[in-house]
Amino acid sequence: MRTVWTFHTAGEIVFGRDAVNQLGEVARRLQAKRVLVITDPILADAGLIDRVHGPLLEAGVEVEIFTGGEPEPSLRAAEACAKLGHKVRPDAVIGLGGGSNMDLAKLTATLLAYPGSPRRFFGDDQIPGPILPVICIPTTAGSGSEVSGAAVVTDTENHVKVGILSNYLRPRAAIVDPLLSQTCPPKVTADSGIDALTHAIEAFTAIDNEVFPLPPGERSIYQGRHPMGDMVAEKAIRLVGQFLRRAVRDGADLEAREGMALAALLGGMAFSNVGVAIVHALEYPLGAAVHCSHGLGNGLLLPYVMEFNRSVRAPAFARIASWLGEDIEGLDEDEASNRAVKAVRQLRADIGIPDRLRDLQVSEGQLHGFAEKAFSIKRVCRVNPRTVTLDDLQGILQAAY
Ligand SMILES: NC(=O)c1ccc[n+]([C@@H]2O[C@H](COP(=O)([O-])OP(=O)(O)OC[C@H]3O[C@@H](n4cnc5c(N)ncnc54)[C@H](O)[C@@H]3O)[C@@H](O)[C@H]2O)c1
Ligand SMILES: [Fe+2]
Repeated sequence: MRTVWTFHTAGEIVFGRDAVNQLGEVARRLQAKRVLVITDPILADAGLIDRVHGPLLEAGVEVEIFTGGEPEPSLRAAEACAKLGHKVRPDAVIGLGGGSNMDLAKLTATLLAYPGSPRRFFGDDQIPGPILPVICIPTTAGSGSEVSGAAVVTDTENHVKVGILSNYLRPRAAIVDPLLSQTCPPKVTADSGIDALTHAIEAFTAIDNEVFPLPPGERSIYQGRHPMGDMVAEKAIRLVGQFLRRAVRDGADLEAREGMALAALLGGMAFSNVGVAIVHALEYPLGAAVHCSHGLGNGLLLPYVMEFNRSVRAPAFARIASWLGEDIEGLDEDEASNRAVKAVRQLRADIGIPDRLRDLQVSEGQLHGFAEKAFSIKRVCRVNPRTVTLDDLQGILQAAY
């Protein structure tokens, strides 16, 4: 029986409106004289690079910018970024953007410390030691990559998204400025927002830390449900229930943007210590095959997985239902837990996330392949509270089809 759990997050968190103005001081504290900022063309057009450039120049930090980031980044993008990094030789790497650019920054910082193929870091705890300092500045509210020990890239050769998990990937600093997400279009707000909800729900309903089935000799940054994870996951779920619809409806609603920025941060803290489960396992092959966003794939699958897990986690799902605003007074446990599924379905519909895999042009013949790939991602499947078989995964996909 495991009796020890740990909690890791970013080295420092600077949160709030105009927090980005403190970037110069953060860089100075990390003794960074030259930095590489990793971002993408959309954020460059939205004027967000200027928001980070100003404070860095003021602090006398030399800045190089890579604008070749892309959604669900490919290994090729990571290699291009590392190539520039080897030329620039920065003291720190800054990820400016959603999960995609932040993950690219983490992988680049890894490759600058350990040159060579990124493939050798795939999986759990394969990075041998500290990487270059990373500062993450999220411009979406969802991935939680600003605090997580994960980087996800698309392996276009093998048609699957691969995760690299290591506590060495945790950013040295996360600067979370809700003002930066104001330009986020409704679709990105919805997709990334429901990813944050997925993180919190998968963490809150994960298998317990005491019985986390880590095979002898294997290492994982995931460790099952524990009290710190529960605490941050609860708050994240409440915040998503309160603010996601508002943020999607009106991107200028700053209170909603701030609520979602915090939800994403807390969701990231929860899942990156406790773990994500089979929603994520199923999304990796799905997203790689149909090129939907990570958040959209998760949001679509989430209620089907909740339905599958509900019987072994009824009290937890009942609490989730009430945090999402359902009145569960007087209901028995089964009906109360069912309300959580209902609440997520309603939220999903309200923010425009599709209900069925066929809506994503998935063909029925693809389902078995998705189930097989998902089943092979053991580090994620073992976090699920209910033991899953290949047939179970196929059944969930069939229900979602
Ligand atoms: N490392 C982790 O812990 C972790 C966790 C969850 C998801 N992820 C990964 O993160 C990625 C998804 O991240 P995401 O949901 O944040 O979206 P994203 O980073 O893929 O961004 C989606 C699109 O929105 C644009 N965008 C972002 N912010 C904007 C803004 N403020 N204004 C205008 N446009 C903006 C981007 O340019 C991009 O085109 C996936 O690759 C996923 O696998 C990583
Ligand atoms: Fe996710």
